[in-house]
Amino acid sequence: KSLKELNTFGVQAVAKYFIEVNSEQELSDIFEDERVNDLPLLVLGGGSNMLFTQNFNGLVLHIKIGGIEIREQGSDRYITAGGGVVWNDLVQYCVNHGYAGIENLSLIPGTVGAAPVQNIGAYGVELMDVFESCRAYDRILKTWVEFDKAACKFSYRDSIFKREGKDRYIITSVTLKLSTVPHLVLDYGAVLAELQSRKISNPSIKDVSKVISEIRVSKLPDPLTIGNSGSFFKNPIIESVDFQKLQSIFMDIVHYPIQSDKVKLAAGWLIEQCGWKGVKVGNTGTWKNQALVLVNYGNANGLEVYEFSEAIIESVYKKFGVRIEREVNII
Ligand code: EPU
Repeated sequence: KSLKELNTFGVQAVAKYFIEVNSEQELSDIFEDERVNDLPLLVLGGGSNMLFTQNFNGLVLHIKIGGIEIREQGSDRYITAGGGVVWNDLVQYCVNHGYAGIENLSLIPGTVGAAPVQNIGAYGVELMDVFESCRAYDRILKTWVEFDKAACKFSYRDSIFKREGKDRYIITSVTLKLSTVPHLVLDYGAVLAELQSRKISNPSIKDVSKVISEIRVSKLPDPLTIGNSGSFFKNPIIESVDFQKLQSIFMDIVHYPIQSDKVKLAAGWLIEQCGWKGVKVGNTGTWKNQALVLVNYGNANGLEVYEFSEAIIESVYKKFGVRIEREVNII
């Protein structure tokens, strides 16, 4: 089965075996077959955070489990959505019903089931801020497990599902704790300025969602026309002492203090300073409005993109002594 249409980078790769999963029952049935247990497994949601550098010589499960359910408790709204629900469809559903908490996560590509894996985040909000629990199939014990927030071990673009739990748990639904009483987060990036320039002084969650969607559209390429996986690298977190040394050389270095002893740098800035912004090499390159995003200009193959990303990592390391890491999963 060709995976070209199933990864937002739009690179060609073939899966040896492929099954579309529409319910939890279908998923557990698959693992009743002993032959499946020996196969390398890849769980695919929206395919928006992966780069195929070769064919996949195992079983790809495409999670299509749908459904959205609401439980009310005072002003709290517990929203449970199937792993295959498109993330932004859930965001728009919640925004339209007045359930606040994920409006800043508007237009993030991918599915609900993939959201906890890398603790998706944007504009000052991360999934973990509203996460209540998720349900997953445990391939080793062949049972269903429920993860609360602590069990997920969330941190910046990271969770247990990327580490110890990788290849073990398959997330089938996620429950979020939202509220009918909004607590807007507007202090990140251009959000507040953009609202002000539109003379919106008392924004609703719909306003916030709309403004953030428009900022994203202006900065990030649309995967339907130009293949990409959003930020290709993570913003590096370094020790404050190392940061001070860097800042004494690069005075305008973009940074965010996160703890007393740690500072997060803007990888997009580092990459741009190395002269990579908008650079095209073969069929790949960095996006003209956001150097953190690598794109497929048409017929790029995964290996070509990977090699390009190596060159960027090396060049940032040479100039700043900071080794940036990929955010995208390399397969
Ligand atoms: N910058 C540059 N040059 C660039 C890109 C960025 O100088 O080419 C500077 C900007 O001027 C700004 C700073 O870097 O001062 C941060 O840029 P931006 O606000 O675009 O955000 P980011 O840190 O590059 C992160 C997330 C995005 C998320 C935005 C908004 C990561 C890896 N990326 O990007 O998430 O949408 O913040 O909150 O944390 C994703 O993960 O796929 C993703 C798109």
